[in-house]
Amino acid sequence: MEAKNSKKTEYQDAYICGDCLDVLRGVPNDSIDLIMTSPPYADQIKDYGDVVKKIKPDDYIDWFLPRAQEFFRILKPNGSFVLNINDKLDGRYQNIFVFKLVVVLCDEVGFHLVRDYIWHNPATPPNVFSRGTMGRTKKSHEYCFWFSKSEQWTFNMDPIRKPYSKSMMDIIDGKVVERGGREKNSRPSRHNFDLSHPWDNKGGADPGSVISVSNTASNGFVQKLCKEMGIKHPARYPEKLAEFFILSGSNPGDIVLDPFAGSGTTGVVAHKHGRQYFCIDVNPDYQKLGQAWIASISEEE
Ligand SMILES: C[S@@+](CC[C@H](N)C(=O)[O-])C[C@H]1O[C@@H](n2cnc3c(N)ncnc32)[C@H](O)[C@@H]1O
Repeated sequence: MEAKNSKKTEYQDAYICGDCLDVLRGVPNDSIDLIMTSPPYADQIKDYGDVVKKIKPDDYIDWFLPRAQEFFRILKPNGSFVLNINDKLDGRYQNIFVFKLVVVLCDEVGFHLVRDYIWHNPATPPNVFSRGTMGRTKKSHEYCFWFSKSEQWTFNMDPIRKPYSKSMMDIIDGKVVERGGREKNSRPSRHNFDLSHPWDNKGGADPGSVISVSNTASNGFVQKLCKEMGIKHPARYPEKLAEFFILSGSNPGDIVLDPFAGSGTTGVVAHKHGRQYFCIDVNPDYQKLGQAWIASISEEE
């Protein structure tokens, strides 16, 4: 399934309706560059319609495992799988099925954990578990686990660099050379810095592993589209989150799969950035919504 210089297959620039397990069984081995997805969370309070059953935390790994085995099979050897997921409070404590799932994905499926990222949502409202009586703060982050299939994976730092701080710009511009070499610039940690010469300007700083994006776009284009189509998706993730992983984990022309695509955010971002999208969702309404959103991007071009 070559993306370039060949006829498109049914999986390139497509949004298919079905259980991803069934759809993916028909996808060839080693054919997908990046999987970026957010599956339904355990015991989700979100309603994805009659076609989606709730999965209990204790059953989650058994439900996810055959799908993860398909993800592994269809990824190219240098492909990656980014899993956005959240855990939940189970009675008094935080259920640890997410952490068990990460172990199973590595030990049983064969993935390697490249980096655990945090999606920090600064706009998370407090909820019933976080008003003091339950002995904890609100939870204002979710996880994004980046897995690779092998020892090599696509990674582009440049598109996700963040602007340098003022003090970093001073080092790059050679304004602090009088502060001297490593022996004069050590931190309480084991780090030390040679400031005796200007540093290279790489176009921006390493963004680190915390992605801070609010999920508050309530008046956006999609909201309008949902209203017009009479379809509401309750758990859209922000385009900026998908963008971080699509830009760093794939190249233009690559195939980006979202097996739990919902409103089509992953497909939209992939399409905007010259990747080929492959979306799947079991709910036909979300397929219609996603297709309409992606089509609106094509019309803008
Ligand atoms: C958390 S939402 C994904 C939201 C998406 N990231 C977005 O921005 O709109 C999870 C989606 O998984 C879908 N889903 C649940 N079980 C599925 C299955 N077995 N196969 C495919 N899709 C499924 C649900 O219909 C829901 O839209």
